Amino acid sequence: MQTQTYAQLPSDLNPQRLPQHVAVIMDGNGRWASKRGFPRIAGHRQGAKTLKDLLRCCKDWGIPALTAYAFSTENWQRPLKEVGFLMRLFERLLRRELAEMQREGVRISFVGDLSVLADSLRQEIDRAMTLTAKNQAVHFTVAINYGSRAELAQACRRIATHAQQGLLQPDAVDEALIEQYLYTQGTPDPDFLIRTSGEQRLSNYLLWQLAYTELYFTETFWPDFDREAFHQALLYYQKRDRRFGKVAA
Ligand code: IPE
Ligand code: IPE
Ligand code: MG
Repeated sequence: MQTQTYAQLPSDLNPQRLPQHVAVIMDGNGRWASKRGFPRIAGHRQGAKTLKDLLRCCKDWGIPALTAYAFSTENWQRPLKEVGFLMRLFERLLRRELAEMQREGVRISFVGDLSVLADSLRQEIDRAMTLTAKNQAVHFTVAINYGSRAELAQACRRIATHAQQGLLQPDAVDEALIEQYLYTQGTPDPDFLIRTSGEQRLSNYLLWQLAYTELYFTETFWPDFDREAFHQALLYYQKRDRRFGKVAA
């Protein structure tokens, strides 16, 4: 019954005023599991299901882009066992879900420094990106080994190298050019950021891209962030007056 209700955009949401790109910081998996006496990895497993349903929900409700923070540059500092589990989970999910995502018209991208990931994971990543490159139903971006500061540093390095090689003039470095050197190059900035689990910080996520994004923080742990929770978040979004520095309309 619930699924039926939420299969379509809830009637109190205005389809003309939906965010075109939603970014999520999927936080609280560990606490969700601990609260139930489960190991932290059980929370990650459940969190993956939540993400899968949110992606489908975006498609059902007409939200064309979703970007999810799966692993930060700082997350390497977690216990080796947890890091290993997460990496295997990413690989397994890609292998298992790719065919269905392809059928659903999902285009998958990845942002982050992928160069240090295991070869087997990188192969799945390459395969997913290549296979889905032309899909248009939803653009799904996964941030793995992502850190905004690392992203900006690599952009600066490459811009400096290109300037040194005479490929661009220092005067040409403006906001639009910097954007072309980001991992997110070509993707419009998120309109809406959701962070679950009560933490109100960005944890090195999309610092450049979130300059004018509406922020939403909820106490709900990520594995419990269902369609009703997303519905509530979108109601909040639709009440915001996005002024972009101008005076209210
Ligand atoms: C988010 O949940 C998932 C990742 C960072 C991979 P956490 O694992 O951070 O869960 P908490 O914050 O410890 O509850
Ligand atoms: C942010 O969550 C990273 C991801 C969700 C992948 P963390 O749980 O790692 O962030 P902090 O440590 O609470 O800032
Ligand atoms: Mg956390």
